[in-house]
Amino acid sequence: MSSSLKELFSEELKSANDVESINILRVKYLGRKGLITESLKSLASLSLNERPKAGKALNELKVFIEETLRDKELLFSQKVLESRLSRESLDITVCGKYIASGKTHPINQVLSEIIDIFEVMGFEVEEGPEVETDYYNFEALNIPKDHPARDMQDTFYISDDIVLRTQTSPVQIRTMEKNRPPLRFISPGKVYRCDSDVSHTPMFHQVEGLMVDTNINFGHLKGVIETFLKEFFGQKVGIRFRPSFFPFTEPSVEVDISCIICESKGCRICKETGWLEVLGAGMVHPKVFENVSYDSTIYTGFAFGMGVERLTMLKYSINDIRLFFENDLRFLRQF
Ligand code: PHE
Repeated sequence: MSSSLKELFSEELKSANDVESINILRVKYLGRKGLITESLKSLASLSLNERPKAGKALNELKVFIEETLRDKELLFSQKVLESRLSRESLDITVCGKYIASGKTHPINQVLSEIIDIFEVMGFEVEEGPEVETDYYNFEALNIPKDHPARDMQDTFYISDDIVLRTQTSPVQIRTMEKNRPPLRFISPGKVYRCDSDVSHTPMFHQVEGLMVDTNINFGHLKGVIETFLKEFFGQKVGIRFRPSFFPFTEPSVEVDISCIICESKGCRICKETGWLEVLGAGMVHPKVFENVSYDSTIYTGFAFGMGVERLTMLKYSINDIRLFFENDLRFLRQF
């Protein structure tokens, strides 16, 4: 009995070549219902004088199988360890893997910077829709249907009554409709005009500003705008206010800074004038207050609007606005 079992075991052992097949053999021979265990039980059926010899042989076979399996298992697990060690050796001189990290777009960087400066002056941030009604984008801002000022802003019309906003000024109206004075907020966002060349893209960013209260005067407008421009371009920048026209402000101004490219000596960028226009502003027109039911005999205010791309181009001496939106990483990585 034990000699045929030993032959069977030796035969099966030949094809066992990993730890797992050793474990299968262990169960098959030594497990609770294994071949050796069963054979030991069947000793009971032998005659009394056959039993000791057969029992001894089976016990020797059991020890033999236990030891053989243990040796084989050790051998195989050592092999596994060796091959892992040779495969997974750690070379601490190898360079680390490059992990590409994204960063904020220069326009968004400048937007955050602008918001930070106004936040210190107590301005909140308001937002409005980019798809806007004719009423909010024009009518309520004192730009009637036949007004020539509409031609200044090459409008994308969705329908007769719906436009892509051409300016962030409609947020003035929306915010005044929802709140009572005092108001002090800026409104950054995307605007759209059908225009494209080195200084125009069909989509660009503006930051609108509005402050309304009793006794707000032109001095407040000058103070806020000068503070902003000096924080943004540096304390030494020259600033001048020129009379201008916007339908929703009266009086209106355009604000110039001294040319930071040529230091006011005269260059191509400032068209030899030494000055660069950077924003539009003015005292809120009584008509606009009337449209949102604010009493213009009690309240006054000022508004301003600026182009973020233009400010960014001047700050970083960028000569083509389209670079912002081509998404060439060589350009974007510089900021
Ligand atoms: N909305 C004007 C423009 O886009 C800028 C502006 C805003 C002027 C607020 C005055 C007051 O040109």
